[in-house]
Amino acid sequence: MSGNHKDQVVVVTGAGKGIGRAIAERFATEGARVVVNDIEEDRVNEVVASIKDVNGNAIGAVADVSDSSQVKKIFDSALDAFGTVDVLVNNAGIVSPMLHFFDADETWWRRIIDVNLTGHFLCSQQAARIMAKNQNGVIINMSSGGATRAHRSFTAYDASKGGIEALTRAMALDLGPYGIRVCALMPGSIDTEGMDEEARKLRGENIPLERPGDPEDMAGPALFLASEDAKYITGDIIKVDGGMLSQQRSATVDIVPPSTFPSLKDVLEGD
Ligand SMILES: NC(=O)c1ccc[n+]([C@@H]2O[C@H](COP(=O)([O-])OP(=O)(O)OC[C@H]3O[C@@H](n4cnc5c(N)ncnc54)[C@H](O)[C@@H]3O)[C@@H](O)[C@H]2O)c1
Repeated sequence: MSGNHKDQVVVVTGAGKGIGRAIAERFATEGARVVVNDIEEDRVNEVVASIKDVNGNAIGAVADVSDSSQVKKIFDSALDAFGTVDVLVNNAGIVSPMLHFFDADETWWRRIIDVNLTGHFLCSQQAARIMAKNQNGVIINMSSGGATRAHRSFTAYDASKGGIEALTRAMALDLGPYGIRVCALMPGSIDTEGMDEEARKLRGENIPLERPGDPEDMAGPALFLASEDAKYITGDIIKVDGGMLSQQRSATVDIVPPSTFPSLKDVLEGD
């Protein structure tokens, strides 16, 4: 990294574990001042402590991103502690419970849409008002392959992620004139639960790079989008999925699966 992130003030939502935690910790390692948000207080405390343990700079902000008054407090805390906000990573999201369309009800639908989609809107509006004062800022949303290709029993989740991609483009248009860029990351299958070796192997069989992603795989792309190197990128959705969404057929059912590819030895000898 080019030292782009030194002293950047970065708010990461849902940073108590998984992808959000990896992104928050990486920004801190690169010298950013980080606001660690999560709905779970003990997770917030743990991540703030882990950042401080390695001499990073972070504060915690416990809040539910679907509640506008709690969201305002996240940004008030950021202003109190660090004076501004340069980067917002809208990462908080929920997937469960997974319900078949016929088993779903309105409460289920509203909760998933509220956290995933309305949460992005509420946090972004607070952040953008601060960023507009600086004529500078970056908002990074968190999509999913479900925005493009559906999961079974994920109707609300997939709809929320499709909404996030549309929101990303629409916000990029509205906020560009104020110096604010808006992009999204689209994670593929990221191992946030600590799969065992067998599970990782099985999951990897249908991924061109042959393994699920690790939360840390999401951090580099987030830092890039937040950097000066990405200063002419806005409105884009960046896939970080080991090639999953680029394939038409899964490797296990493809007529020409990777098991039929030339061996590395043959490739090297063919030089
Ligand atoms: N893991 C994957 O394979 C994957 C794939 C595609 C997209 N994503 C997206 O990436 C993001 C992070 O996923 P993850 O797998 O790291 O999730 P995770 O469940 O491991 O972590 C999510 C964090 O968000 C917090 N959270 C939940 N509701 C919240 C709320 N209302 N307000 C604030 N915090 C809240 C949780 O407490 C948790 O700490 C999500 O938006 C998810 O949809 C993940």
